[in-house]
Amino acid sequence: MQTISTSINNSILTITIQRPEKLNALNKTVLSELDAIIQNCYTNPAIYGVIITGAGPKAFVAGADISEFIVLSKEEGMSLAQQGQLIFQKIEDLPKPVIAAVNGFALGGGCELAMCCHIRMASNLASFGQPEVNLGIIPGYGGTQRLTQLVGKGKALEIILSGNMIGANEALAIGLVNHVTEPENLIPQTEKLMQTIIAKSPQAVAKAIGAVNAFFQPGIDGFKEEVRLFGECFGTKEMEEGVTSFLEKRKPNFRK
Ligand code: COA
Repeated sequence: MQTISTSINNSILTITIQRPEKLNALNKTVLSELDAIIQNCYTNPAIYGVIITGAGPKAFVAGADISEFIVLSKEEGMSLAQQGQLIFQKIEDLPKPVIAAVNGFALGGGCELAMCCHIRMASNLASFGQPEVNLGIIPGYGGTQRLTQLVGKGKALEIILSGNMIGANEALAIGLVNHVTEPENLIPQTEKLMQTIIAKSPQAVAKAIGAVNAFFQPGIDGFKEEVRLFGECFGTKEMEEGVTSFLEKRKPNFRK
C-alpha cells in the first residue's frame, strides 16, 4: 500500500489515509487501496471492527484530489462518482462496525467518507464541509444523500450551497458527529467505543447495521427487513449464549 497504512490491535483494524502533505486527499490510488482493504474486511475473521482516520495533525481527508479533476470528461466525471459511491457503499454495508475518527479537515470526499462510516468521533480541531460549489461541482461520493439523511434537508442544503465549513461542536449540535473529544483522546475514545461494540453479539451487530441501513434503501420496507433479521437471530449459538449468560448472571462470550 502506498497511500494507506493499516494496523490491527485487539482485533480492531485501523485504516490511516497517509498523504499528509496533500491533506490526505483521495486520489485514484487511495480509492483503489481503500477499496481493497474494505473488501478484505468482509471476509477476514481476524477483523472485528474498523476505525478510519487521517495521518498528520491537520486533516482527516480534505476531499477528492482536485488535481485529478481538470482532465476529466463528463463521462469520466460520472464514472469517478460511481466508483467513489461504490466504495463508500461497501463501507456503509460492512457487517462489522466502522467508526470514523475525524482528526482535522473532513471536506468534500472527506466529509463523505466520514458519513458512510456507521459512527463519527471528532477531535475538537476537526472541521466539516462540502466545498465543491467553490470548484463548480457538487458532492459526488454520496454527500447530497448522506448529509441530508444525517442533518436534514435545510442544514444539508445550507452546508452544500454555501460551501462553508463548520467546526466539530456545530457538527455535534446538528447530528453530523456522535462525540467531540480533545485531540489526544480521539483514538483512545474511539477504540473504547469500538471495544464496547465488538464485545456484543457479532451477528446482532451485523443485523442491526443491515436493518438500520434498510431504512435508506428505496424499495425496501425497513420494518419487514427488521422482522426478517430479528427472526434470523433465533435458534443461533450467539442468541443461546446471550440468553443463557443473562440467566446464569455471567458475562456473555459471543466469540468462543
Ligand atoms: N486535492 C488536492 N490537493 C489538496 C487538496 C485536495 N482536495 N486539499 C489540500 N491539498 C493540497 C494543497 O494543494 C497543498 O499542496 P501543495 O503544498 O503541494 O501546494 C497541500 O494539500 C496543503 O494544503 P494548503 O491549501 O496549503 O493548506 P491550508 O491549511 O492553507 O488550507 C484547506 C487547508 C483544507 C482549507 C485547503 O487545502 C482547501 O481548501 N483544500 C481543498 C478542499 C476542497 O475543496 N475539497 C473538496 C474537493 S472535491
